[in-house]
This record gives sequence, C-alpha cells and structure tokens, in this order.
Amino acid sequence: MSELIVTTRRLRLEPFAHRHGPELESFARLWEVARYTATIPHPYPSGGGAIYAEQVSFGWRHGGELLWAVIEKATSQVVGCAGLDPTPDRRGFELGYMYAPWSWGRGVASEAAIALVGTAFRHLEADEVFAHAVGENRASCRILAKAGMRRIGNATYFAPAREHWVRAEAYRLLRREWSS
Ligand SMILES: CC(C)(COP(=O)(O)OP(=O)(O)OC[C@H]1O[C@@H](n2cnc3c(N)ncnc32)[C@H](O)[C@@H]1OP(=O)(O)O)[C@@H](O)C(=O)NCCC(=O)NCCS
Repeated sequence: MSELIVTTRRLRLEPFAHRHGPELESFARLWEVARYTATIPHPYPSGGGAIYAEQVSFGWRHGGELLWAVIEKATSQVVGCAGLDPTPDRRGFELGYMYAPWSWGRGVASEAAIALVGTAFRHLEADEVFAHAVGENRASCRILAKAGMRRIGNATYFAPAREHWVRAEAYRLLRREWSS
C-alpha cells in the first residue's frame, strides 16, 4: 500500500511515523485517553510511541493497519491518531481513533473520521467500514453516527488499559449506504 496523505479543511493526516511518537506518547499515557481503546496499555511504556511507529510502518508496507497521525494545519501539532484496520480479505476496515484531551470538543475527531470513511470507500475499495465504541463513551458513538454509520448490535473487545474485555456498541456503514 503506498502511503496515503489525507487532508481536510483543518487537518492533515500523515502515515504515522517515528517522528510522531513523542507527541503520541504525551496523550496516550493519559487514563482518559487509554481507557476505552483496544490498543493502548496503561501505564503507557516510555518509548512506546516509537515502537508503535515501527509496528505501524510494517502495517503500511505489508497490509496491516493503516494508521495516520492527525495534524492540525494551523499549529502543525499532532492532536491525535486515527486508523483503518483491514479484515483479512481487505473488504472491510475497522475505524479507530484517539485524540489529545486538549483538542476534544472542537469537531476534529469527527472531521477526521468522516475523511477516513471516504478514504476507505474511494481509495481502499472497501465494501464496509465498521467500528466499536463503549456505550458510555457517548462522544465516540456520536462521531460514528456523524460519519454515517448505524448501530448494528453489540460486540466485545479487549481493552488493554483495563486488562479485560468490554461490552461495546457495534457500528457499520456499507458502500451502498455511503453518500460521498
Ligand atoms: C472520543 C473522542 C475521539 C472524541 O473526540 P472529540 O474531539 O471530543 O470529538 P468531536 O468534537 O469531533 O465530536 C464529539 C461529538 O460527541 C458529542 N459529545 C461529546 N460528549 C458527549 C456526551 N457525553 N454525550 C453525548 N454526546 C457527546 C459532541 O457534542 C460532538 O457531537 P456534535 O458535533 O453533534 O455536537 C475523544 O474523547 C478521545 O480521543 N477519547 C479517548 C480515546 C477514545 O475513546 N477513542 C475511541 C475508542 S472507541
């Protein structure tokens, strides 16, 4: 997969790389960021951002998760990261994201989510985009709805920060339901 840069009105999404690691760590280490995610342990290990970047770079080259650093154009700051994780047949992509608390509540996460849903259908030949969000994480559920997804049921996933499985709402958008 060639590395794909995605731009929106306020944001530039760059394939997540080593240089983004320290900024990622500055917010990934916070409990309020890690607590609902399916990837972030707590406490977050020092240097974990760089290791994560290596793993992601492998993903870009070998068909794994596509993860972007979300950069605010106005400040050049990394405010979050968002990804599309393919199913083995690459017909479906799971949307995931986390953002620095200092960027919350400004529509940034929604703007990136909408852009990545479009990327999946326009550039990755996706048949569907899906996601999970813990019900009490209302902001995340709302983002998925704003990105055009509808709730299709429940799911469970492992949350490393909690070291146990959590119940979540499952959302999906099919290509034929997507309005570009
Ligand atoms: C979830 C998260 C991405 C939200 O980021 P954000 O920047 O605040 O999101 P946005 O500003 O784009 O949009 C949030 C939406 O949820 C709404 N919202 C926020 N808190 C809410 C609440 N308690 N109840 C209902 N809606 C809520 C906002 O009003 C907004 O909707 P609107 O545009 O219709 O007004 C951010 O809190 C985060 O990174 N959390 C930690 C990681 C995480 O939970 N990731 C998701 C794992 S599934």
